[in-house]
Amino acid sequence: MPLSADPILPPPSPEAAAHSAKVADHIAATIAAEGDWIPFSRYMELALYAPGMGYYAAGARKFGPEGDFVTAPEISPMFARCFALQAAQVFDQVGGDILELGPGSGQFAADLFAELKTIGKAPERYRLLEVSPDLRERQRALLTQRFPADIGRFEWIDALPETIRGFVIGNEVLDVVPFDLVHRSGTDVLERGVIVSEAGFAWDDTAMPAGELKRRAVAVLPPGDYAYTSEISLAAEGLVRTISATLEAGLAIFIDYGFAEREFYHPQRSGGTLRCHYRHRFHGDPFFMPGLQDITGHVDFTAMGRAAEQGGAEVYGYTTQAYFLISCGLAVLVSAGDPTATLSRLKGTSAVHRLIGPSEMGELFKVLGFGKGIDVPILGFQSARHLPL
Ligand SMILES: C[S@@+](CC[C@H](N)C(=O)[O-])C[C@H]1O[C@@H](n2cnc3c(N)ncnc32)[C@H](O)[C@@H]1O
Repeated sequence: MPLSADPILPPPSPEAAAHSAKVADHIAATIAAEGDWIPFSRYMELALYAPGMGYYAAGARKFGPEGDFVTAPEISPMFARCFALQAAQVFDQVGGDILELGPGSGQFAADLFAELKTIGKAPERYRLLEVSPDLRERQRALLTQRFPADIGRFEWIDALPETIRGFVIGNEVLDVVPFDLVHRSGTDVLERGVIVSEAGFAWDDTAMPAGELKRRAVAVLPPGDYAYTSEISLAAEGLVRTISATLEAGLAIFIDYGFAEREFYHPQRSGGTLRCHYRHRFHGDPFFMPGLQDITGHVDFTAMGRAAEQGGAEVYGYTTQAYFLISCGLAVLVSAGDPTATLSRLKGTSAVHRLIGPSEMGELFKVLGFGKGIDVPILGFQSARHLPL
């Protein structure tokens, strides 16, 4: 995800600015209605998902060159093709179908399903859990165009199903699940929330009531009395725990930027990992143009692995995106292309480099896999270097 950290952000169009003003008014009214202070997770929920207004719930382009960021499935179909080989292994072991969380533009679903058809392993059902009505329409249009005869196999759902068997996948989903911010000042650990000041939205730190957020903050923040701010994503953990508990048999895979706990809450990462994406720039101000930019944080994979185990699944592996794709057979897929198509081969190679290059997505992005009932080594982890969680 090559982005520039440019503090000079391009101005929005007048229509986009008007939309953002409406979103800001809605958030300000909510803050007033909810006691003049809201947790950061509530701000993030409103800015990203308020119906008809939030970044993921209204019409901005988001993905691709004209949007705000580029994700792996948009870079190369090779990404989804590798996961198709992984899904095929799961179907051979336990049967079942596919559940994709946060399918974005639908590109991943299209390339995954196409590859599964090619190898004769397309499942009867492909469920897409999408919170954004806008993105649903975009996914449906793409999948109808690519698979007119099979569109009936795709099923859009609003909430997690009661049972899951087969292959579950979520690429860059956990990082956009609303998280809380905690801030240590001196020896006090406070919760960082949002208020409305004369100058607009502003931070406000307050004492935390006893509870899971406080317990976790005290446990994870590195020792010391220097100022330290970071994120804790109890909702993303809850999502992983529920999927784990719901999975009868199969494999769930989450791909995202992030680290294990000791690296996530490293003494030097004292500003946390909150990051906003706007027109291929990233910056750290979530109050900039709410509704027009993505708001994300890195994923604490130790917490996600623990949540998976609490739900009853076994953690099958945790590695880098590069290791996972290579272990799935990326090199074989790449070399199987037409050797005489020089230009498309060069473009393909450069896209693959973006997926696995250590300074691109290859090392920052990690893959966590957990599941139940699979007794063979998982394809994507079998020749990968396992990282400690
Ligand atoms: C950064 S986009 C990634 C899209 C796509 N997976 C890709 O790789 O291009 C995040 C997606 O997660 C979705 N999302 C956010 N919270 C979710 C949740 N709790 N369950 C399912 N999807 C969610 C958003 O609507 C959006 O489609």
